Amino acid sequence: MPAVVVLENVSKHYTTVKGHEVQAVRNVSLSVQPGETVAIVGPSGCGKSTLLRLIAGVEGPSGGSIRRETAGGHFIVGYVFQDSSLMRWRTVYDNIKLPLEVVKKRDLGNVDRLIDLIGMKGFERSYPIELSGGMQRRVSIARAFVHEPSIVLMDEPFTGVDELTKEALQHELGNLIRTLHVTALLVTHDIEEAVFLSDRIFVMSPRPGAIVEEVPVNLPSARDPSVRSSLEFFAAASKVRAKLLELHAMRVDAAT
Ligand SMILES: Nc1ncnc2c1ncn2[C@@H]1O[C@H](COP(=O)(O)OP(=O)(O)OP(=O)(O)O)[C@@H](O)[C@H]1O
Ligand SMILES: [Mg+2]
Repeated sequence: MPAVVVLENVSKHYTTVKGHEVQAVRNVSLSVQPGETVAIVGPSGCGKSTLLRLIAGVEGPSGGSIRRETAGGHFIVGYVFQDSSLMRWRTVYDNIKLPLEVVKKRDLGNVDRLIDLIGMKGFERSYPIELSGGMQRRVSIARAFVHEPSIVLMDEPFTGVDELTKEALQHELGNLIRTLHVTALLVTHDIEEAVFLSDRIFVMSPRPGAIVEEVPVNLPSARDPSVRSSLEFFAAASKVRAKLLELHAMRVDAAT
């Protein structure tokens, strides 16, 4: 099967309001295969969110190419934003339903299915302000899956969530990805999150972000929290950490 998305030598420059040129992303090449979850790990400001916006097509690259595999002429994206960005005037049900309105799908069966899968039955008519931070994250995740997207793009989905809640949410997200057979691209600076959820991890350098390492995660696709103490989990996490530390040291050296 062809890759869902292929990036070849993708670069992105911005001009700031003061007129300075900023290179956010440099020569990124990667592909995501159907059904896999790929993570991109890198320090703050290295261009991770930029890369997701480029893949989603809301911004165009300055150089290189992005090829998207379309189904029925459409490439449909599910997006989990860096903050939950729920619409405060819409209920849980109507927030999750939103992408179906955008792609004009009439069948609302998936909304109930997802509310069930994320354990939010009974909260359909609640408003975001009435939910805990963890529940808001669940709703924003359900919203990204509801319209059966070609790929789900997740931008640091659990930033600001306490450690134990985060681990529970990561477990739920992994189950959701497997149950719904989705293809996913996860952006995070959390190494354990990347290892727990993905099949391959790309390590990005500080800005201008370039991919400097690919780390395979040799764990079974069905994962419960006990894999966190396995040797393979530790091996993959150590590899990513070592690369990030090496890049960090290079940056400190360059600044001194
Ligand atoms: N619209 C824009 N105009 C100018 N510069 C921008 C714009 N968007 C992003 N940048 C710059 O591009 C770089 C990468 O930004 P981006 O938000 O992609 O980083 P990130 O890896 O997602 O960071 P974080 O982990 O903090 O979310 C930053 O230096 C940022 O200031
Ligand atoms: Mg970001």
